[in-house]
Amino acid sequence: METVVSGIRSTGNLHLGNYFGAIRNFIRMQHEHKCFFFIADYHSLTTHPAPEDLHRNVKQVLVEYLAAGLDPEAATLYIQSDLPQVAELYLLLNMNAYKGELERCTSFKEKVRKQPDNVNAGLLTYPVLMAADIIIHKATKVPVGKDQEQHLEMARTFASRFNRLYKTDYFPQPYAFNFSSELMKIPGLDGSTKMGKSENNNNAVFLADEPKMIRKKIMSAVTDSGPTKRNQQRPQSIKNLFLIMKVVSQPDTYDFFEEAYNDCSIRYGDMKKQLAEDIIKFTGPLREKIIEIGNDVGYLRKVAEMGKEKAMESASKTIEDVRNIIGFKSF
Ligand code: TYM
Repeated sequence: METVVSGIRSTGNLHLGNYFGAIRNFIRMQHEHKCFFFIADYHSLTTHPAPEDLHRNVKQVLVEYLAAGLDPEAATLYIQSDLPQVAELYLLLNMNAYKGELERCTSFKEKVRKQPDNVNAGLLTYPVLMAADIIIHKATKVPVGKDQEQHLEMARTFASRFNRLYKTDYFPQPYAFNFSSELMKIPGLDGSTKMGKSENNNNAVFLADEPKMIRKKIMSAVTDSGPTKRNQQRPQSIKNLFLIMKVVSQPDTYDFFEEAYNDCSIRYGDMKKQLAEDIIKFTGPLREKIIEIGNDVGYLRKVAEMGKEKAMESASKTIEDVRNIIGFKSF
């Protein structure tokens, strides 16, 4: 049995990318390993959410975790900011994280491009906080999407640097994980290579989207004028529709449209209709549970308290050890 840690930032509703990149793995791992799944609300502060939005967003992720099938009895489900130990470990790791390596991180460079007026220190040290999240429980497996691969590499660097500095083997090496050997990257509906919540509204299908909205988004997804030669190369937007179909539809449905593309008989309208209905079939039961669980505040409170207690036990043990290793002593 291995120790597993992963989290999702509380910056809005979860989408198909979050589900297939992360949550689907959480569900499969929770009965096999010692799992900690959390809501990354400290991480959400890099974009300065209004206080009234912060809690609503945390609640939404917790509700969607539970609706998707995370079992709070099997896994430890908690809120990142409920563990002050994470903030302490983040501070300690920051002493051995260097400006140059943090500036070279791809996601940091992307944020600098996207939000040049808000390049705060929290953004720069985002991977250090992520490393703290992971190694606070001494995790070895981290179920994440492809976009987090570099952050995991940095977590390994910070863990092994700590070990080297203090001549210990205290922290194990954490690795990104997905059941289907390759890490996933679900593309966007707007022709971009990644579905994301901070992109425009027509890029992502959210788990809580109503059927009408899903049909509208899929029908307006970007396509081209259609293939004219057999087995023609596909533009990104068409590859994207096929990639999404691959994860939500039946294999024979996927094969049918593959063939239709290759022999140039494909009608994108038909493909989109089918895709929209398959997504609705998949998200429908989830959406019902999201509504039901969202109304049960008593249950949510119980889950959060139980998670906090279990996560705290593991985190405080690590911090006690780390303080000893570093040399903090009481008089
Ligand atoms: P976040 O909130 O951006 O995304 C949460 C998870 O969903 C995955 N994901 C995707 N997977 C496939 N295709 C996509 N289009 C897609 N979009 C998102 C992400 O890879 C991720 O697994 N920094 C993290 C949260 C975090 C964390 C951690 C994760 C904080 N501390 C410690 C693991 C361990 C983040 O922003 O994910």
